Amino acid sequence: MTIKSSVTSRSKLPDVGTTIFSVIGQLSAQHNAINMSQGAPNFPCDPALVQRVMRAMEQGHNQYAPMTGLVALKEALASKVFTLYGQQYDVNSEVLITGSASQGIYAAISGLVHAGDEVIFFEPAFDSYAPVVRLQGGVPVALKLQLPDFAINWDDVRAAITPRTRMIIINTPHNPSAQVLSREDLDQLAAIIRNSDIVVLSDEVYEHILFDGRQHQGMATHTELAQRSVIVSSFGKTFHVTGWRVGYCLAPAELMAELVKVHQFMMYAADTPMQVAFADYLRQPENYLGLSEFYQRKRDTLIALLAASPFRLLPSAGSFFMLASYADFSDESDSEMVKRLIVDYGVATIPLSAFYTDGTDNKLIRLSFAKDDATLRAGAEALCRVKPR
Ligand SMILES: Cc1ncc(COP(=O)(O)O)c(C=O)c1O
Repeated sequence: MTIKSSVTSRSKLPDVGTTIFSVIGQLSAQHNAINMSQGAPNFPCDPALVQRVMRAMEQGHNQYAPMTGLVALKEALASKVFTLYGQQYDVNSEVLITGSASQGIYAAISGLVHAGDEVIFFEPAFDSYAPVVRLQGGVPVALKLQLPDFAINWDDVRAAITPRTRMIIINTPHNPSAQVLSREDLDQLAAIIRNSDIVVLSDEVYEHILFDGRQHQGMATHTELAQRSVIVSSFGKTFHVTGWRVGYCLAPAELMAELVKVHQFMMYAADTPMQVAFADYLRQPENYLGLSEFYQRKRDTLIALLAASPFRLLPSAGSFFMLASYADFSDESDSEMVKRLIVDYGVATIPLSAFYTDGTDNKLIRLSFAKDDATLRAGAEALCRVKPR
């Protein structure tokens, strides 16, 4: 039974809601499929972190936090960012604790993008960027990353910039391609937008997950870019607590002032007990500096387990994702392949076309290795049984 609406409303996002993600979710549930699709860990976080949250609640930290975040947490973050990346953000005016990276992205786009402004972003892309731009009356301008290594073509970026371009959205390490930007990429970006009013929105939620000795090239490592960037990150990804919904933004004070106005009326302040816990937990760098090694082992385990599968694995340089190609053994669309994997083999993955607004199909599927070893083994075993078609 549903309640029948007595009003007609004109949707602002008429095409959102019927995505392949919901189809995959339903099909996976029906077939009880092994979940290699979702970007959320299926293993527990550090019990010491949970204890800190419980202690914070017991000690009475259960009312509103300060609007932009707990000072102790902002101090811990500013100090971490200075130590790792060299940029000194002012705790009072340049750090904002948000209710997730998603909320930070929303606050940044809605605070800075005006109706008619153009926002350049790169596909395949995390699904929130374009709809949030459209909700502001902005115009998302999708550029395609270039296969096989999903590199940004900086000539394309130069050509796409118009007097209306207000923002460029960057994501490194990148979901879903698992590639990372280099120092040369940052220099190219800086040169292209020098002498403009273009803001960089830099989604760095996987900042602590880079492999094979790579260093994270975030905007805070590049002073010129830091001066025009909003950096967004997420405690959910770093501490295996995606359900806690706490993240943060860093930006120069003038830009941050606009984000804060949106944040104030959107949620006022992020969850207090979690902030108390993170403030304490962040003081031990080993709590986040070991993450690359942790996920590299999972990546390598999955690569070894899939050695006998018919899939060709693309290199994963960061994040907890890996792309797998089936172009050598099937002409099916990636959505058809993903459905067949669920129905016939009991394993759920994501078709890469879901990350393109025009549904581009490169015969690639995304695997998540943020999973315990038993799930990695079971998922890989299913993928090894796949028959060509
Ligand atoms: C690239 C990217 N940005 C942002 C997010 C959202 O992070 P949060 O869970 O903190 O909202 C995700 C989550 O999957 C992501 O992959």
